[in-house]
Amino acid sequence: MSWSPKQYTVFEDQRTRPVRDLLNAVSTTDVMAAIDLGCGPGNSTGILVDRFPNASVSGIDSSADMIESARKRLPKCQFTVTSIEAWDGPGSFDVILANAALHWVPNHASLLPRLIKFLSSRGSLAIQMPDNLNEPAHRLMREIAVEQPWADKLAKSAGERTIVESADWYYSLLRPLCSRVDIWRTTYHHPLAGGANAVVEWFKGSGLRPFLLPLNDVEQERYLSQYRAAVSDAYPTLSDGTVLLPFPRLFIVASR
Ligand SMILES: C[S@@+](CC[C@H](N)C(=O)[O-])C[C@H]1O[C@@H](n2cnc3c(N)ncnc32)[C@H](O)[C@@H]1O
Repeated sequence: MSWSPKQYTVFEDQRTRPVRDLLNAVSTTDVMAAIDLGCGPGNSTGILVDRFPNASVSGIDSSADMIESARKRLPKCQFTVTSIEAWDGPGSFDVILANAALHWVPNHASLLPRLIKFLSSRGSLAIQMPDNLNEPAHRLMREIAVEQPWADKLAKSAGERTIVESADWYYSLLRPLCSRVDIWRTTYHHPLAGGANAVVEWFKGSGLRPFLLPLNDVEQERYLSQYRAAVSDAYPTLSDGTVLLPFPRLFIVASR
């Protein structure tokens, strides 16, 4: 599934704030090697560089366009086009960051223990995943997709996202492998200028992509106008013209 750095960075400030909150909770010191899995256009990698200025920092992403943007932004970091599923080091890392990426990667029961193996003896795996599939913005994109005329083309779209499991589930998976597992869930309320249309623009850069890619340009516009109308009802515009987008996110810092 292709990603657009241009569309994704429209809301870069809001999308990057969870990276700071996540990395502030990492207590590993003397970080010499750190990697950003699903680094996107390098926004999360930049925070990793700021947080650990002495570290050698690298990033991977399955999107060549995202990696091109990341290389332009951070020429001193090393970036590689590869998938998280195929990534196998080399080496060991003091911090492995995956911000807003692992909800696109399946099989967390095997993936997370595999990532822990790439940590150094006191290293930390720092993960943040949107936990928003039950929010109106996601519910509405699914509800429209099962109606005609979309049902045939969009039958598989909802399945592109991996279900984020409960905090208990991640704790039970990681605790036997780590000395400390810190999990929390935060709902951000992102103020978006421009009313409900801004909510649509936000998700065009992420959650809507599996619903738009199977459609041609004309179909995309028709699907989006249906979605925009539904979103307007669910997300009222406030008196200053903004919409508050509630966005629950699950955070995990697992340290060896
Ligand atoms: C929502 S963006 C997150 C970007 C950045 N990490 C951030 O914090 O804003 C998700 C990124 O994960 C990448 N991605 C999705 N599935 C992937 C996979 N299986 N392997 C590697 N990268 C993947 C996408 O190309 C995209 O750049």
